[in-house]
Amino acid sequence: MSDASDSVFLTLPAAAFPESTVESPSGRLLVPGMRLEEKRVVIQPSLVADLRGLARGAAEKAYAPYSRFRVGAAVVMADDPESRVFTGCNVENASYGATVCAERNAIFAAAAAGLRRIGMLFLTTLDSLDGPTAARSPCGVCRQVMREFADGNTLIVLDDGRDEVLGEVVDIDRLLPWGFELDRS
Ligand code: THU
Repeated sequence: MSDASDSVFLTLPAAAFPESTVESPSGRLLVPGMRLEEKRVVIQPSLVADLRGLARGAAEKAYAPYSRFRVGAAVVMADDPESRVFTGCNVENASYGATVCAERNAIFAAAAAGLRRIGMLFLTTLDSLDGPTAARSPCGVCRQVMREFADGNTLIVLDDGRDEVLGEVVDIDRLLPWGFELDRS
């Protein structure tokens, strides 16, 4: 099982693009700017490895008779004193629209246990592991659900497929710039 003593530092890169405007006879158009500071995080590779195994196991259980695209997720919540792992797979439906993704099933299981803050979520797309990052990364709806339960320390790790790579690490700000938020205070 995971072991905090194997923790390593990892740097999520800064990213920025400037705001700009264009004047037209009908009015001003604004391209909003974006600035993400470089972020140093501590990550436990042994936990990544554990979650990867559990997420891949969950993906084997996917109910995906329509797409035949199996997805699995495993999540540990930062506010869980027991550090339990919640897993989920995609569960499809004949109506298509009633399909629920693996990440949401895992996060909702954790939320139903009373937990509210994602520590680390590992995502595996078993049937596209040799594909580009976009083919292995979460859909927009799941990003928004992650945003709901993410904070500055939340890490999302994508399965890279290659044995020599444990995973691709991102955070919610890099996955979902301008994600929708309501003031909950
Ligand atoms: N899917 C997920 O489970 N998670 C994602 O983030 C992307 C898509 C599922 C939904 C559907 O069952 C299948 O993958 C193909 O879209």
